[in-house]
Amino acid sequence: MDYLNPTWQAQMRIRLDINNALNSVVDQHGIDPNQLGAMADAARAAVLDIEHKRSILGWPDLPQQDVSAVHAMAAKVKHVENFVVLGIGGSALGNIAVQSALNHPFYNDLPRSKRLAPKLYVIDNSDPDLNAALIETLDPATTVYNVISKSGTTAETMASFLTVRNHLEQTLGADALKSHIILTTDPTSGFLRQIGQREGWPMLDLPPTVGGRFSVLSTVGLLSAAVTGIDIRALLAGAAYGYQIASNPDVLRNPAAVAAMVNLACAHKGQNMVVMMPYAHRLRHVADWFAQLWAESLGKRYDLNGTEVFVGTTPIKALGATDQHSQVQLYAEGPFDKLVNFIAVDQYQHTVTIPSAYTDLEGVSYLGGHTFNALIQAEQQATEIALNDAGRPNITHHMPAINAFTLGQLFMLFEMQTAIAGALLNINTFDQPGVEAGKIATYALLGRNGFAERRDQIAAARQRRLSQWEI
Ligand code: PA5
Repeated sequence: MDYLNPTWQAQMRIRLDINNALNSVVDQHGIDPNQLGAMADAARAAVLDIEHKRSILGWPDLPQQDVSAVHAMAAKVKHVENFVVLGIGGSALGNIAVQSALNHPFYNDLPRSKRLAPKLYVIDNSDPDLNAALIETLDPATTVYNVISKSGTTAETMASFLTVRNHLEQTLGADALKSHIILTTDPTSGFLRQIGQREGWPMLDLPPTVGGRFSVLSTVGLLSAAVTGIDIRALLAGAAYGYQIASNPDVLRNPAAVAAMVNLACAHKGQNMVVMMPYAHRLRHVADWFAQLWAESLGKRYDLNGTEVFVGTTPIKALGATDQHSQVQLYAEGPFDKLVNFIAVDQYQHTVTIPSAYTDLEGVSYLGGHTFNALIQAEQQATEIALNDAGRPNITHHMPAINAFTLGQLFMLFEMQTAIAGALLNINTFDQPGVEAGKIATYALLGRNGFAERRDQIAAARQRRLSQWEI
């Protein structure tokens, strides 16, 4: 992969097709292209503002970061059997998305001779069964844990960390901790930083300005990727290319800006759900990552003037072709409240021909000789056609292939799309008061010092619950 060659880069450019969201295709449920023209000045201002603030925002500059510390850390743990990420939300979803997109679909099951790097696990839940299984299953002697938390306080991550730490200490002794735990956190603040400094454990810095859901291309997502052999320089080169495209002030030629405008114009027409539906098993967790990015960034009560606006469209993750047999019925015939975003793939890694058999049974034999590639591509187009015929707006991101360069590009295009949409909505794209409210209520319920008032408020609210409605 010659990811710095401009000709190759141009071949790997992700294209956006919005025809099926226009009224010329889906009649009154689609948008008038003039609406995009009307939004263009505001979108251009948003693009220029992001470029102006790129060093304050941090994430647009991630493609240019120095990754030598990540490579050095990865080299130290390549020999172990298991690499486990402990994190949640933005400190886990990107890791999962990168791993499933770029490594073998059965990566952890490959023999060591074919894997050449540790198995990867991501523990992103306070579910006791999951945490118990982690302790029961993996041999601590051959496992390294990467605890990732920007704030260094998140309850789920800290609980898993304390559990792992205790297990390591009991099985291998206190001296072994420093060679089994790596912390990724804010360079100066938070409890995880304090713990790392006190213990003298290896640490990676997370750029302080970069919020969790925009952090996949930082040390958060890069270490586990590098450990499993992913070319993180190609990932970042793709992101740099994505930024180049998505910062084009000629916004009607800028796919991130156009996608943001189409999403908002559709939301204005009542299409307040955004289905993200890649037609590639490898991209199923990119849909998950996108759901967090879109939901946490754009779901806001107040705008920047402090006026209540209650904005945001609800992301739904779907997977083609799997969810054609699950969700597409609703998308084609249910309420007119969705914009479907397809991700189509031109070139899969493999070309697999379906064998011929049962030539007397036409309903089976027609498949013989076709490829799975042609099948899944036909299914994606067929779903588009079915939605068009039913007057359901949809757009398609065409990925030439799935590789580190195009994945980095896709991440950046979606991050820019989200930031431009947030600017058009005049909201703070980068805060998450709703998430913080949940964290505070958890602290209160667990009796953490300093949260007694909130505990009392919750107890008072519970008094209003009526027992006859617990049935
Ligand atoms: O995007 C966000 O800001 C959140 O989803 C955080 O990533 C998540 O709450 C975890 O936070 P932290 O990394 O501070 O533990």
